Amino acid sequence: MSWSERQRQMLQAMGLTVWAPPAPLRDEPPAMAAAEPARAPRVPAPVPPPAPTPVPMEEASAVATLGWPELRAAVAGCRACALCDARTQTVFGVGHERAHWMIVGEAPGEQEDRAGEPFVGPAGQLLDDMLRALALTRQPGPPEKQVYIANTLKCRPPRNRNPEPAELARCEPFLKRQIALVQPRVILAMGRFAIQQILRSDEAVGRLRGRVHSYQGVPVVVTYHPAYLLRQPADKAKAWDDLCLAASLLTAP
Ligand code: URA
Repeated sequence: MSWSERQRQMLQAMGLTVWAPPAPLRDEPPAMAAAEPARAPRVPAPVPPPAPTPVPMEEASAVATLGWPELRAAVAGCRACALCDARTQTVFGVGHERAHWMIVGEAPGEQEDRAGEPFVGPAGQLLDDMLRALALTRQPGPPEKQVYIANTLKCRPPRNRNPEPAELARCEPFLKRQIALVQPRVILAMGRFAIQQILRSDEAVGRLRGRVHSYQGVPVVVTYHPAYLLRQPADKAKAWDDLCLAASLLTAP
């Protein structure tokens, strides 16, 4: 801080000693510059990728206490990231609120954004077929038959681009709370982003499938995303094996 002459006089009159650095001589270079040897021009350091924006602790812990109606309202009104600007509506989730099976996908696409329901496009039709093969459905039914379906992101990324780490971090408390409320007996994580979110793993789906993982004490089976299976139908047999593995966890004595 620099004092004006008037302030200095006032402070001195109050008995306070004011220290001021000696004024540099007119032609003297600034101290720092004098100490610095001449250097080659600096090459700017590479900019690291942005770290996921951590969700403020108080927000995440507030979401962790919400019941279904409040959680639904919190998602519908969420403006925590830029995805809210382009969405038609949020896509909360659908199914039995105490389903034995919970299916976790990636993010709404164009049709889900319009319908407000996850997996209603072509990938969703394949998902419904896969569920039907196990006598499961998203339609109303008892909790052992009617699944609960949710996505890692509740808003559609523009042009269906991949979710960004900051978006996933912002949305995570909602999925976490949905899982806590449903208390499923098995989670089927479909595709890379669901797996990353739930298992905190960057490993490829192919390396993680075929065994049982765990999320907060709930068994997790990972499998290919239905959209991938539409492009690579040869892997449908592996996805069927994954579904059978998940089913075996519920029928085991
Ligand atoms: N893909 C997903 O992962 N979720 C949807 O809701 C639709 C497509």
